[in-house]
Amino acid sequence: MPDRLQVVTGDITRLAVDAVVNAANETLLGGGGVDGAIHRAAGPELLAYCRTLDGCPTGQAKITPGFRLPAKHIIHTVGPVWRGGRHAESQRLTLCYRNCFRLAKEHGLRSIAFPAIGCGVYGYPREEAANIAATECRKALTDDPALERVLLVAFDEPMAAVLRQAISAA
Ligand code: APR
Repeated sequence: MPDRLQVVTGDITRLAVDAVVNAANETLLGGGGVDGAIHRAAGPELLAYCRTLDGCPTGQAKITPGFRLPAKHIIHTVGPVWRGGRHAESQRLTLCYRNCFRLAKEHGLRSIAFPAIGCGVYGYPREEAANIAATECRKALTDDPALERVLLVAFDEPMAAVLRQAISAA
């Protein structure tokens, strides 16, 4: 039985999955990194739609259409800014994954792709973030048999190696 959890390397905006996850900020009005890439690829309708959502608190998630993306939906979640690890960062990052999977289940999504939430601008240490991602993905795949495919998307090979190590240990 092929593993339903896989690591891929590349640009998440090109994946034809039911949902791609966006590492957003609390305004949901776009930014740099993967947020910027998703808004550029999805087109201006995404920003117009996000303006109606009234933001998103850290750890929470909101779903939008994918607009011009090959993905049907975008699940926007806001990771924690890394401040040394004593400000509930791990709990908040864990919540990001759980809330994304909650929305996926509510919408009957069967495939979802995550970037390395928090690991760019927000400075979350890659290994710790990857372990949280792998653990939460394994839990979600157990809890939701309808979920057929979960992709952890690395934007570079070093991150892909960290993610592969994390899912093999989870
Ligand atoms: N596809 C996949 N992964 C990507 C892409 C892409 N097109 N672009 C960047 N990444 C990777 C980064 O290399 C990093 O590993 O996504 C991971 C998350 O990095 P960021 O996008 O910087 O997200 P984050 O660290 O959560 O910071 C969020 O940055 O862009 C702003 O508006 C955003 O304020 C928010 C903050």
